[in-house]
Amino acid sequence: MASVTFDAVTKRYGDVVAVDSLDLEIVDGEFMVLLGPSGCGKTTALRMIAGLEDISDGTLRIGDRVVNDVDPARRDISMVFQSYALYPHMTVQRNIESPLLARHYHLDGPDQPARKLTSAERAERVAEAARVLDLEPYLKRKPAALSGGQRQRVALARAFVGRPQAFLMDEPLSNLDAKLRAQTRIELVDLHRRVGTTVVYVTHDQVEAMTMATRVAVMSMGKLQQVGTPQDVYAKPINTFVAQFIGTPPMNCVDAAIAADGTAVDLGAAGRLPLPAGLQARPAAGAPVVLGVRPEHLTLDPAGSLTAVVRAVEWLGHECLIAADLDDRLVTLRQAGMAILEPGAEVKVAVDAADVHLFDAETTERLT
Ligand SMILES: Nc1ncnc2c1ncn2[C@@H]1O[C@H](COP(=O)(O)OP(=O)(O)OP(=O)(O)O)[C@@H](O)[C@H]1O
Ligand SMILES: [Mg+2]
Repeated sequence: MASVTFDAVTKRYGDVVAVDSLDLEIVDGEFMVLLGPSGCGKTTALRMIAGLEDISDGTLRIGDRVVNDVDPARRDISMVFQSYALYPHMTVQRNIESPLLARHYHLDGPDQPARKLTSAERAERVAEAARVLDLEPYLKRKPAALSGGQRQRVALARAFVGRPQAFLMDEPLSNLDAKLRAQTRIELVDLHRRVGTTVVYVTHDQVEAMTMATRVAVMSMGKLQQVGTPQDVYAKPINTFVAQFIGTPPMNCVDAAIAADGTAVDLGAAGRLPLPAGLQARPAAGAPVVLGVRPEHLTLDPAGSLTAVVRAVEWLGHECLIAADLDDRLVTLRQAGMAILEPGAEVKVAVDAADVHLFDAETTERLT
C-alpha cells in the first residue's frame, strides 16, 4: 500500500491545460474520489498516476518514490476502467489470472531479482481474489454467462489479484443500471474496508463521491477546488461551484446584498435573513453577496422571516420539492411528505442562521 502525492502537477496538451498545478496528497489506505464535471481533468490526473500520460510540470510520488519517469509496469498499481473488457473466450478463473502471467514480481525480498509467479502461487492469488469478491461459484464460467454486476466484480478481481499498492478506478460503475450501481457502491466500500488498499476513484457523480469517499477532491477546469471529507464539502463548500456541484437538488445560490444596517442579508421584498456566524470580516453595508441555502434548510414556517411565492410542487413520494420565488429569485425547498400548495400561493419560509452560506459576489469564494 502507498500514498500518492501530486506536487504542483500540470498536464498540458498543446494549449490545453488539462490539469493545472495540482497539489493533492492521497493518504495511504484512503478512498479518494476525484469529482468534477466532464472535461475537468479527472481522467488525466488518474492516467498520470498510472504512468499512461507524461507529466508536463511538477512532481508525482507513489509512497516516497518520485515516479515522473517510472515505467507504468513498475509502478505497482492497477487500473479499472468503465469498459471492463474481459476476455470472452476465457473462464472467469483465467480472466482473473491473466495479469499475473506476464508480470515479474519482487517476491523474495527487495534484494532478490523479480520473478514470475509459480502456478501454485497464481492459483492461491486467484482463489483469494475470488473469495474476496464472492466469485467462487462462477470461476468455471465464461463472461457471457455472468450478469453485468458479476462481470464488474471479475474486473475488480483482476485488478486485485496483483496486490497493487493502489487501485485506480475511472467511472467503473457507469455501465451499470441504477440498481446495480447502488449495490456495487456498497460492495466497493466493503472491499476497500477489508483490503485497506489506497483507492483513487474518478467520477462525475456526486452521489458516488458522497457515499464512497474517505475524502473527495472536487475539480473544475483542471483546478482543484476543495478537498475534504464528504461531510466537510457538503457543510462548508469553499465556493459557489462546490456548493452547487455537491448535493441534489443543488444548493440554492441567489444574488442578495448585505442590508443597509449591516446586520442581515437583504432579499428585497422577500425579506431578510440573519448573517451567519463566523464571518471572516463583516461585509460592508450594501455589499452584493451570493446567498447559499440548501433546499432542506428552507422550511415552511408561519413565523419565518421570508415571504415566497409558490411556482410548482413536485411530489416524489417520500418528499416533495417546492419551486418558489423569493422576490424573483427562483429557489427550491425540500420537505418530507406532500405540501398541498397552489401555484401563486404566498408562504412564509424560515432559515436557521447556521444554515446560511455567504459567498463573495465577485470571487464566488466563501465568506465564512
Ligand atoms: N490526448 C489529448 N489531447 C488533447 N486534449 C486532451 C487529451 N486528453 C484530454 N484532453 C483535454 O483535457 C481536458 C481534461 O480531459 P479529461 O479526460 O481528463 O477530463 P475528465 O474530467 O476525465 O472528463 P470526463 O468526465 O468527460 O471523462 C479536456 O479538456 C480534454 O479535452
Ligand atoms: Mg474521464
